[in-house]
Amino acid sequence: MRKKIVAGNWKMNKSLKETKTLVKEIKKEVKHLHLDKNVRVIIAPPFVNLQKASKLLKDSKIKVAAQNMHQSESGAFTGEISAEMLKGIYIDTVILGHSERREYFGENDEILKAKVDTALKNKMKIIFCFGEVLEDRKKGDHFKVVESQIKHALFHLNSDQWKRIVLAYEPVWAIGTGETATPEQAQEMHAFIRELIAERYTSDVAEEISILYGGSVKPENAKEIFSKEDVDGGLIGGASLNSKDFVSLIKSI
Ligand code: G3P
Repeated sequence: MRKKIVAGNWKMNKSLKETKTLVKEIKKEVKHLHLDKNVRVIIAPPFVNLQKASKLLKDSKIKVAAQNMHQSESGAFTGEISAEMLKGIYIDTVILGHSERREYFGENDEILKAKVDTALKNKMKIIFCFGEVLEDRKKGDHFKVVESQIKHALFHLNSDQWKRIVLAYEPVWAIGTGETATPEQAQEMHAFIRELIAERYTSDVAEEISILYGGSVKPENAKEIFSKEDVDGGLIGGASLNSKDFVSLIKSI
């Protein structure tokens, strides 16, 4: 049975003090939830607070992920973090391909393919993000854009490697805007993606892949979005930055 996942992408938010407070609040609330065994909860604080979050959560079911990593194993890449460094602080999950990395830091399909390969070589799990911009959708190119992003970064992998991949469809026009995709739009794209994987690999492989939706998921819309057949949870930005909303989303999965 594929995993249901609620993952919080904190982006560049929360000081160390705020991280301690938020992690302790979420941990306390999640502890009392009777989550199904296939439900996973993940938080992704900024690099500098990963270790503290991990330490606070070591006796909890909540996993900690990094928001990015470099494609090289080591070297003259000022300001970057390697897979080995993340593994060294027991972080084995990384978000890759977020639209903000693509837009602000020039991460293209080639760079992301290299990041995927390095993460897998280091036995990491990946939450791989992709999604169209508003212009693409207005032109009816959203399926073509998403297909290209997935094919270029992931379709060289073998079936076994896909066991370490979680997909996150994040229409760029829905991120941070309050313009959430409708549950029907999310389901339509997720079903399209699952069919793409089934055609390239097998339906068994496709059925096992968790496909998350991201883009203005809030307590008031989460239940309906998460109820869709091919939506396996959410990658959450703003609503992951306070425990009340984030726990409400976990209860909605
Ligand atoms: O990675 C998740 C993020 O991009 C979604 O942000 O604030 O629209 O939930 P938000």
